[in-house]
Amino acid sequence: MAEKQVKSRQRVADHGEVFTAEREVKAMCDLVADECLRIDSRFLEPACGDGNFLAEILNRKLDVVTRRYKKSPYDFERNALLALGSLYGVELLQDNAVSCRDRLFTLWNERYEKAIKKKDRNEEVKESARYILEKNIICGNALTLHEVDENGEDTGIPIIFSQWAFATGPMMKREDYAFEELLHQGEATTAKEEPVQMSLDLVYEDEKPDDEGTLIKIYPPIHYRRLKEYG
Ligand SMILES: C[S@@+](CC[C@H](N)C(=O)[O-])C[C@H]1O[C@@H](n2cnc3c(N)ncnc32)[C@H](O)[C@@H]1O
Repeated sequence: MAEKQVKSRQRVADHGEVFTAEREVKAMCDLVADECLRIDSRFLEPACGDGNFLAEILNRKLDVVTRRYKKSPYDFERNALLALGSLYGVELLQDNAVSCRDRLFTLWNERYEKAIKKKDRNEEVKESARYILEKNIICGNALTLHEVDENGEDTGIPIIFSQWAFATGPMMKREDYAFEELLHQGEATTAKEEPVQMSLDLVYEDEKPDDEGTLIKIYPPIHYRRLKEYG
Protein backbone atom coordinates (compact mmCIF):
# COMPACT_ATOMS: atom_id res chain seq x y z
CA MET A 1 0.00 0.00 0.00
CA ALA A 2 1.30 3.49 -0.84
CA GLU A 3 2.36 5.60 2.12
CA LYS A 4 0.12 8.52 2.98
CA GLN A 5 2.19 11.70 2.93
CA VAL A 6 -0.68 14.15 3.39
CA LYS A 7 -3.58 13.98 5.87
CA SER A 8 -5.55 16.93 4.51
CA ARG A 9 -5.04 19.97 2.30
CA GLN A 10 -5.94 22.18 5.25
CA ARG A 11 -3.16 20.74 7.38
CA VAL A 12 -0.70 21.23 4.53
CA ALA A 13 -1.81 24.85 4.18
CA ASP A 14 -1.83 25.55 7.93
CA HIS A 15 1.23 23.64 9.09
CA GLY A 16 3.18 22.45 6.05
CA GLU A 17 2.34 18.92 7.08
CA VAL A 18 3.74 16.68 4.35
CA PHE A 19 5.37 13.52 5.62
CA THR A 20 8.64 12.31 4.16
CA ALA A 21 8.44 9.06 2.19
CA GLU A 22 10.26 6.04 3.63
CA ARG A 23 12.68 5.86 0.74
CA GLU A 24 13.88 9.43 1.34
CA VAL A 25 14.01 8.88 5.10
CA LYS A 26 16.29 5.86 4.61
CA ALA A 27 18.46 7.68 2.08
CA MET A 28 18.91 10.64 4.43
CA CYS A 29 19.71 8.40 7.37
CA ASP A 30 22.29 6.65 5.20
CA LEU A 31 24.12 9.98 4.98
CA VAL A 32 24.83 9.69 8.72
CA ALA A 33 24.80 5.88 8.79
CA ASP A 34 27.57 5.50 11.38
CA GLU A 35 25.86 7.86 13.82
CA CYS A 36 22.64 5.86 13.46
CA LEU A 37 24.54 2.80 14.68
CA ARG A 38 25.88 4.49 17.82
CA ILE A 39 23.47 3.51 20.57
CA ASP A 40 23.82 6.78 22.48
CA SER A 41 24.27 9.23 19.59
CA ARG A 42 21.62 11.93 20.06
CA PHE A 43 19.23 13.05 17.33
CA LEU A 44 16.61 15.79 17.32
CA GLU A 45 13.80 15.94 14.77
CA PRO A 46 12.50 19.50 15.33
CA ALA A 47 9.24 19.17 13.34
CA CYS A 48 8.85 15.47 13.86
CA GLY A 49 5.27 14.78 12.75
CA ASP A 50 4.70 11.16 13.78
CA GLY A 51 8.44 10.49 13.83
CA ASN A 52 9.43 9.15 10.41
CA PHE A 53 13.11 9.86 10.99
CA LEU A 54 13.12 8.96 14.67
CA ALA A 55 11.51 5.58 13.91
CA GLU A 56 14.09 4.73 11.26
CA ILE A 57 16.98 5.73 13.54
CA LEU A 58 15.50 3.78 16.46
CA ASN A 59 15.22 0.70 14.25
CA ARG A 60 18.86 0.97 13.24
CA LYS A 61 20.03 1.45 16.82
CA LEU A 62 17.91 -1.47 18.02
CA ASP A 63 19.47 -3.68 15.34
CA VAL A 64 22.79 -3.03 17.05
CA VAL A 65 21.37 -3.56 20.54
CA THR A 66 19.81 -6.85 19.43
CA ARG A 67 22.97 -8.10 17.78
CA ARG A 68 25.10 -7.31 20.80
CA TYR A 69 22.83 -7.96 23.77
CA LYS A 70 19.99 -10.33 22.92
CA LYS A 71 21.47 -13.03 25.14
CA SER A 72 21.36 -10.81 28.23
CA PRO A 73 17.96 -9.34 29.18
CA TYR A 74 19.67 -6.91 31.58
CA ASP A 75 22.08 -5.54 28.98
CA PHE A 76 19.40 -5.49 26.30
CA GLU A 77 17.02 -3.48 28.50
CA ARG A 78 19.65 -0.93 29.53
CA ASN A 79 20.92 -0.38 26.01
CA ALA A 80 17.50 -0.37 24.40
CA LEU A 81 16.44 2.35 26.87
CA LEU A 82 19.60 4.30 26.12
CA ALA A 83 18.84 4.12 22.39
CA LEU A 84 15.31 5.40 23.00
CA GLY A 85 16.56 8.13 25.33
CA SER A 86 18.90 9.44 22.64
CA LEU A 87 16.01 10.45 20.36
CA TYR A 88 14.21 13.80 20.65
CA GLY A 89 11.29 15.35 18.82
CA VAL A 90 9.33 18.58 18.84
CA GLU A 91 5.93 18.72 17.14
CA LEU A 92 3.36 21.53 17.04
CA LEU A 93 0.24 19.38 16.65
CA GLN A 94 -0.80 17.31 19.62
CA ASP A 95 -2.24 14.40 17.61
CA ASN A 96 1.07 14.01 15.80
CA ALA A 97 3.10 14.19 19.01
CA VAL A 98 0.91 11.48 20.59
CA SER A 99 1.18 9.30 17.45
CA CYS A 100 4.94 9.76 17.48
CA ARG A 101 5.28 8.60 21.09
CA ASP A 102 2.95 5.63 20.47
CA ARG A 103 4.76 4.65 17.30
CA LEU A 104 8.20 4.71 18.91
CA PHE A 105 6.95 2.80 21.93
CA THR A 106 5.32 0.12 19.75
CA LEU A 107 8.47 -0.27 17.72
CA TRP A 108 10.65 -0.43 20.86
CA ASN A 109 8.32 -2.93 22.53
CA GLU A 110 8.10 -5.19 19.49
CA ARG A 111 11.87 -5.35 19.30
CA TYR A 112 12.10 -6.05 23.05
CA GLU A 113 9.54 -8.84 22.89
CA LYS A 114 11.16 -10.36 19.84
CA ALA A 115 14.62 -10.36 21.38
CA ILE A 116 13.85 -11.40 24.97
CA LYS A 117 12.06 -14.58 26.02
CA LYS A 118 8.70 -14.11 27.76
CA LYS A 119 9.92 -15.43 31.11
CA ASP A 120 12.72 -12.84 31.14
CA ARG A 121 10.62 -9.82 30.15
CA ASN A 122 9.74 -7.08 32.57
CA GLU A 123 6.71 -4.78 32.61
CA GLU A 124 8.37 -1.98 34.57
CA VAL A 125 10.99 -1.39 31.90
CA LYS A 126 8.16 -0.72 29.45
CA GLU A 127 6.86 1.98 31.75
CA SER A 128 10.33 3.51 31.78
CA ALA A 129 10.31 3.49 27.97
CA ARG A 130 6.96 5.30 27.98
CA TYR A 131 8.28 7.77 30.53
CA ILE A 132 11.31 8.62 28.40
CA LEU A 133 9.06 9.22 25.40
CA GLU A 134 6.83 11.57 27.43
CA LYS A 135 9.91 13.65 28.21
CA ASN A 136 11.70 13.44 24.85
CA ILE A 137 8.85 13.97 22.39
CA ILE A 138 7.57 17.41 23.16
CA CYS A 139 4.43 19.10 21.95
CA GLY A 140 5.99 22.46 21.21
CA ASN A 141 6.90 25.12 18.70
CA ALA A 142 10.41 24.59 17.35
CA LEU A 143 10.60 28.23 16.26
CA THR A 144 9.61 29.97 19.52
CA LEU A 145 11.17 27.07 21.52
CA HIS A 146 8.12 27.03 23.81
CA GLU A 147 5.67 24.28 24.67
CA VAL A 148 2.25 24.62 23.05
CA ASP A 149 -1.23 23.70 24.32
CA GLU A 150 -3.65 21.21 22.74
CA ASN A 151 -4.61 23.86 20.15
CA GLY A 152 -1.01 24.49 19.13
CA GLU A 153 -1.01 27.86 20.95
CA ASP A 154 2.23 29.01 22.52
CA THR A 155 2.24 28.61 26.33
CA GLY A 156 5.38 30.66 26.95
CA ILE A 157 6.84 27.68 28.84
CA PRO A 158 10.39 27.02 27.56
CA ILE A 159 11.08 23.58 26.09
CA ILE A 160 13.32 21.55 28.40
CA PHE A 161 15.08 18.41 27.21
CA SER A 162 16.16 15.58 29.50
CA GLN A 163 19.53 13.95 28.87
CA TRP A 164 19.70 10.26 29.82
CA ALA A 165 22.84 8.31 30.66
CA PHE A 166 23.90 5.41 32.85
CA ALA A 167 25.67 6.06 36.14
CA THR A 168 26.81 2.82 37.76
CA GLY A 169 25.20 -0.57 37.13
CA PRO A 170 21.44 -0.24 36.68
CA MET A 171 21.25 3.37 37.85
CA MET A 172 20.22 5.89 35.22
CA LYS A 173 20.96 9.62 35.37
CA ARG A 174 18.73 12.43 34.15
CA GLU A 175 19.84 16.00 33.53
CA ASP A 176 17.53 18.70 32.18
CA TYR A 177 18.69 21.37 29.73
CA ALA A 178 16.91 24.39 28.22
CA PHE A 179 16.43 23.91 24.45
CA GLU A 180 16.92 27.63 23.79
CA GLU A 181 20.27 27.64 25.55
CA LEU A 182 21.39 24.52 23.69
CA LEU A 183 20.70 26.30 20.40
CA HIS A 184 22.34 29.58 21.35
CA GLN A 185 25.54 28.15 22.78
CA GLY A 186 28.53 29.47 20.84
CA GLU A 187 26.57 32.18 19.02
CA ALA A 188 27.50 35.86 19.17
CA THR A 189 26.17 37.68 22.23
CA THR A 190 23.79 39.70 20.05
CA ALA A 191 22.07 36.56 18.81
CA LYS A 192 19.48 36.55 21.58
CA GLU A 193 18.20 39.96 20.50
CA GLU A 194 17.42 38.63 17.04
CA PRO A 195 14.22 36.72 16.21
CA VAL A 196 14.55 33.01 16.99
CA GLN A 197 14.84 31.06 13.77
CA MET A 198 16.07 27.58 13.14
CA SER A 199 15.93 24.99 10.46
CA LEU A 200 13.27 22.34 10.89
CA ASP A 201 15.61 19.72 9.45
CA LEU A 202 17.00 16.81 11.38
CA VAL A 203 19.80 17.72 13.79
CA TYR A 204 22.24 15.25 15.24
CA GLU A 205 24.76 15.52 18.01
CA ASP A 206 27.86 16.30 15.97
CA GLU A 207 26.20 19.34 14.37
CA LYS A 208 25.54 20.92 17.73
CA PRO A 209 27.99 23.28 19.39
CA ASP A 210 30.51 21.62 21.67
CA ASP A 211 29.40 23.44 24.80
CA GLU A 212 26.65 22.03 26.92
CA GLY A 213 23.55 24.20 27.25
CA THR A 214 22.31 25.65 30.50
CA LEU A 215 21.79 22.89 32.97
CA ILE A 216 18.42 23.33 34.63
CA LYS A 217 18.44 20.36 36.99
CA ILE A 218 20.43 17.24 37.86
CA TYR A 219 18.34 14.43 39.32
CA PRO A 220 19.66 11.70 41.60
CA PRO A 221 20.19 8.44 39.68
CA ILE A 222 17.28 5.97 39.70
CA HIS A 223 17.08 2.29 38.73
CA TYR A 224 16.35 2.17 35.00
CA ARG A 225 13.16 0.19 35.60
CA ARG A 226 11.71 2.87 37.85
CA LEU A 227 12.19 6.06 35.84
CA LYS A 228 8.57 7.11 36.33
CA GLU A 229 9.49 7.80 39.97
CA TYR A 230 11.07 10.98 38.63
CA GLY A 231 7.45 12.14 38.49
C1 LIG B 1 6.81 18.64 6.56
S1 LIG B 1 6.12 17.84 7.99
C2 LIG B 1 7.47 16.76 8.36
C3 LIG B 1 7.15 15.69 9.36
C4 LIG B 1 8.29 14.68 9.57
N1 LIG B 1 9.49 15.34 10.01
C5 LIG B 1 8.59 13.95 8.26
O1 LIG B 1 9.64 14.24 7.67
O2 LIG B 1 7.81 13.10 7.86
C6 LIG B 1 6.29 19.15 9.14
C7 LIG B 1 5.75 18.89 10.54
O3 LIG B 1 6.13 19.98 11.36
C8 LIG B 1 5.06 20.39 12.16
N2 LIG B 1 5.30 21.81 12.42
C9 LIG B 1 4.98 22.88 11.67
N3 LIG B 1 5.43 24.01 12.23
C10 LIG B 1 6.07 23.64 13.37
C11 LIG B 1 6.73 24.35 14.40
N4 LIG B 1 6.85 25.68 14.37
N5 LIG B 1 7.26 23.66 15.43
C12 LIG B 1 7.15 22.29 15.48
N6 LIG B 1 6.52 21.57 14.55
C13 LIG B 1 5.98 22.25 13.49
C14 LIG B 1 3.82 20.06 11.36
O4 LIG B 1 2.71 19.88 12.18
C15 LIG B 1 4.25 18.77 10.65
O5 LIG B 1 3.93 17.64 11.41
